[in-house]
Amino acid sequence: MTEPQAVAAQENWNAEHYRKQHTFVYESSRDLVSDWLTPQAGESILDLGCGTGELTNQLASSGAGVLGVDASQAMVKAAAEQWPQEGLEFAVQDAHHLPYKAEFDAVFSNAALHWMNPLDNVLAGVYRALKPGGRFALEMGGAGNVLGVRQAVEQAMQEEGITGVAHVWVFPTPAEFATQLEAAGFGIERLHRFARPTVLSGSTGFQEWLRGFGGSWLAPLSSEERQAVIARAQEIARPTLWNGNEWVADYVRLRVLAKK
Ligand code: BEZ
Repeated sequence: MTEPQAVAAQENWNAEHYRKQHTFVYESSRDLVSDWLTPQAGESILDLGCGTGELTNQLASSGAGVLGVDASQAMVKAAAEQWPQEGLEFAVQDAHHLPYKAEFDAVFSNAALHWMNPLDNVLAGVYRALKPGGRFALEMGGAGNVLGVRQAVEQAMQEEGITGVAHVWVFPTPAEFATQLEAAGFGIERLHRFARPTVLSGSTGFQEWLRGFGGSWLAPLSSEERQAVIARAQEIARPTLWNGNEWVADYVRLRVLAKK
């Protein structure tokens, strides 16, 4: 697998599709808010890569003031419409150029950092954004994340004669990520890597996942090639990722609590 070199952002997010089809993205990380970040009333918190804002809202329900930022205008618009209450703000912001200086008691990020390649300038920006002693609680894909999905797509592309199309995500090992966090100045309090098999609902769950999340990766393909690759990848993946009733993606997570 060739690791991606360039900054990758999925520009064509469909916020409605994301919210309805991929509820697991936020439902499976509610305890990252309650048990890892532990927001307190009166705190100021940044939610980095907030998507449609479900966890931003959970953070704010503690009485903290929360700013949710995302690179996608569609996501920010959907979040602001769904969560108009006081104490909750949303803004479009490129995570590679965070402008904040010692403003936040905590930074939170769920299922977003793996889109932010390279990570170094993002981590430096988070560090700058935190007050001294501020905490950074995050979850992202770790090494081996969705490997079965990736291998199925790669084999399908190879069979179609498509070469040189690498995925856009960054999935570090715990050691790699710890090194990056420490280089940015953080002290690491907790760092876990764990498998979290993730049900993709419905008989079309595999294809829906690729259409929802594989947009940037498969963007160089023509629409005919994309259809063919997705359909073929589903058949390649079926023996390992279809359990007879549902699709189960081989998610691997990194969870971290770090301090400035
Ligand atoms: C993840 O949450 O692990 C993930 C989501 C979309 C694409 C790749 C990974």
